[in-house]
Amino acid sequence: MAESRILLEVLKGAQATPPPIWMMRQAGRYLPEYRKLRKQAGSFLDLCYNPDFAVEVTLQPIRRFGFDASILFSDILVVPHALGRDLRFEEGRGPLLKPIGPDEVDALDRDGFHDHLAPVYETVRRLRSELPGSTTLIGFCGAPWTVATYMIAGHGTTDQAPGRLFAYRHPEAMKRLLKTIAEQSAAYLIRQIEAGADTVQIFDSWSGVLDEPSFLAFCVEPVAEIIRLVKAAHPDVPIIAFPKGAGAHYDSYRTLTGAAALGLDWTVPLSQAKRLQAGGAVQGNLDPQRLVAGGRALSDGVDAILDALGDGPLVFNLGHGITPDTPIAHVEAMVAQVRGRTGR
Ligand code: CP3
Repeated sequence: MAESRILLEVLKGAQATPPPIWMMRQAGRYLPEYRKLRKQAGSFLDLCYNPDFAVEVTLQPIRRFGFDASILFSDILVVPHALGRDLRFEEGRGPLLKPIGPDEVDALDRDGFHDHLAPVYETVRRLRSELPGSTTLIGFCGAPWTVATYMIAGHGTTDQAPGRLFAYRHPEAMKRLLKTIAEQSAAYLIRQIEAGADTVQIFDSWSGVLDEPSFLAFCVEPVAEIIRLVKAAHPDVPIIAFPKGAGAHYDSYRTLTGAAALGLDWTVPLSQAKRLQAGGAVQGNLDPQRLVAGGRALSDGVDAILDALGDGPLVFNLGHGITPDTPIAHVEAMVAQVRGRTGR
């Protein structure tokens, strides 16, 4: 029988004291061992598509901090890359893609999709065999709206205005774009699960920039479609959805999408988080800047979350990714504080 994976049990609704813990972007530039390997690999995409490098980078934070979950090292933008869109990452500038026009949506190339992503599946397979049996392995993809905003703008923006404008000017093309990304992302997650991922997280980092009808059409519907397709193939795998910035939309999000667990950003009030926890597991939601600051800012933030949510299904996490300027000692202090609650 497989060793029990506490984080996986919590995603399915169990309570644990102390709660399981991992961090979004836990493999990354705040770690010297990451920066070293990143230099060796040459480019960020070479890290993602080389299983030797990707496995090593994924394991680095597990070795250092013993987190309860390991998240596959890759990026949400490998999906448009696998659909034939040009992609590169430039130092200090983030991702750069060739912006897609409304006439190009039907030409997205689905044929080579899984061949392109074969190294990612190989990485997942190797990880499952190398990780401790008690560590939950998380696969992931971007939500269609968030992925589409980068495909349309070609780079990061502060408000995803190009994506919103595209959606209003070309509603039919937008619908087809979101549908294609949703179907391919579901197939991608299913392959990750079949390669050994215990759970998958859907990152909708830009769900906080939309009005209500657009939130329902561009965020809720495509994510619900992915979850429907993944559940049809793997009904027992709990799915985490992270609609960052969803605010009041969080209230109906679990029911409307079918997500088992909700990732909460740090702006979600703990009173709202408590209500959301009545419907199932929640994950979050420490402000990453508290982790940078350390000291009382950090320990008060951790205590507030544990006091409010510790008696229900909680996966302790940050409210978004760890930033490169975070001191490692602060991560150690956070892990010790969470685990120190009653000493597992
Ligand atoms: O969490 C992990 O440790 C797993 C790996 C992971 C990365 N990106 C590695 C990465 C995951 C889960 C992601 C998700 C991702 N990628 C999202 C959704 C989550 C979020 O943060 O909102 C988004 C929007 C992207 C797209 C992306 N990738 C951007 C905008 C950038 C540039 C910003 C930045 O932090 O540099 C990236 C680059 C990226 N993805 C890095 C890492 C470790 C840094 C690349 C480097 O080493 O230079």
